[in-house]
Amino acid sequence: MRIYFDYNATTPLAQDVIESVIEATRDQFGNASSVHHFGQRAKAALDEARSAVAALVRADPSEIVYTSGGTESDNFAIRGAAEALEPTGRRHLIASAIEHEAVLNTLKALARRGWTTTLLPVDQTGIVDPDRLRQLITAETALVSVMHANNEIGTIQPIAELSAIAHEHGAVMHTDAVQSVGKIPVDVRALGVDLLSLSAHKFNGPKGAAALFIKRGTRLQPMMTGGKHERSRRAGTENVPAIVGLGVAARLGLAKLESEGARLAALRDRLEDGIVREVSGAAINGDRSRRVPNTSNISFDRVEAESLLIALDLEGIAVSTGSACSSGTLAPSHVLKAMGFSSRRTQNSLRFSLGLFSTEAEVDHVVAVLPKLVEKLRSLTRRAAG
Ligand SMILES: Cc1ncc(COP(=O)(O)O)c(C=O)c1O
Repeated sequence: MRIYFDYNATTPLAQDVIESVIEATRDQFGNASSVHHFGQRAKAALDEARSAVAALVRADPSEIVYTSGGTESDNFAIRGAAEALEPTGRRHLIASAIEHEAVLNTLKALARRGWTTTLLPVDQTGIVDPDRLRQLITAETALVSVMHANNEIGTIQPIAELSAIAHEHGAVMHTDAVQSVGKIPVDVRALGVDLLSLSAHKFNGPKGAAALFIKRGTRLQPMMTGGKHERSRRAGTENVPAIVGLGVAARLGLAKLESEGARLAALRDRLEDGIVREVSGAAINGDRSRRVPNTSNISFDRVEAESLLIALDLEGIAVSTGSACSSGTLAPSHVLKAMGFSSRRTQNSLRFSLGLFSTEAEVDHVVAVLPKLVEKLRSLTRRAAG
């Protein structure tokens, strides 16, 4: 039995997505910029997917620009807004301290080019306090970037409130919604954002297909120079099969949003209740009410999370220590650190993230296996210390 509980790193493709990608690879090979029949078929496929993505986030299709991934969407949003606003004299950027590296490292890169940057703190619940933004935003602030849902702990940020504050001060508002789109309802108008990043491989679509929502009228400098693709906003021949897969994943995600949300929340609660009941010294990290339904971050007192991850993997269970998408490193989670947890607790924490193919039987198997592994690791540590 192999169990995949790492859906926040990436998801398996839905069957309909696989079929649509295969079909488009075979039949929609034309260049969407070509005027002939083959090109126009490819263009029609892009348009259909654009409508699906727009419907998922309640945008207008003309406001959706395809990119190669969440990372590119974040870079485009932040660098594009910074470059467009530079002539206005605004040279200040704000992001939360718990953003994905795609945002944090983009801010760092801009800081090296003379931009001032500020990171908004979070409290132990893992949520940004809008009053902190009110205190830190200035007339120089060009852009505020706060993620909709956090990838490690799943907490949902008060984006609508933060957008209102950003706009009162004339700043552009971006949200990285890579971990919320397809999991909870996302409405760009209700959130009040100007820019929103999403990525297909986080909701059962293919890798390398993603989008940036750009609210009509938002000033944004293109990052790719080249042809007039994507209405001159993102040059480069579109990856039609992957984008078709993104569109199918978007339609599926929207159709199943409510039922899957409820099913996953029940599975996650079953997992958490089981673990907290069966494993002494297990504690849930982050706000339990304001979070996406599929994510659970749990710390295990006196257990090295990396060792537990490997022990689980040997039992056929795949989880993560947090920021798996940029992983390979043993650095403690910057998210748990920003929440004020001790370095020991940050290194004791595992992320379980569920999705489309997760079942009750899998949850029960994990709950059955975990206590023995934790106990074994604790006794090894005790022996080593003794
Ligand atoms: C919150 C968040 N933003 C951005 C990304 C980057 O997206 P992508 O892997 O599509 O580049 C990820 C995951 O990798 C993520 O979890």
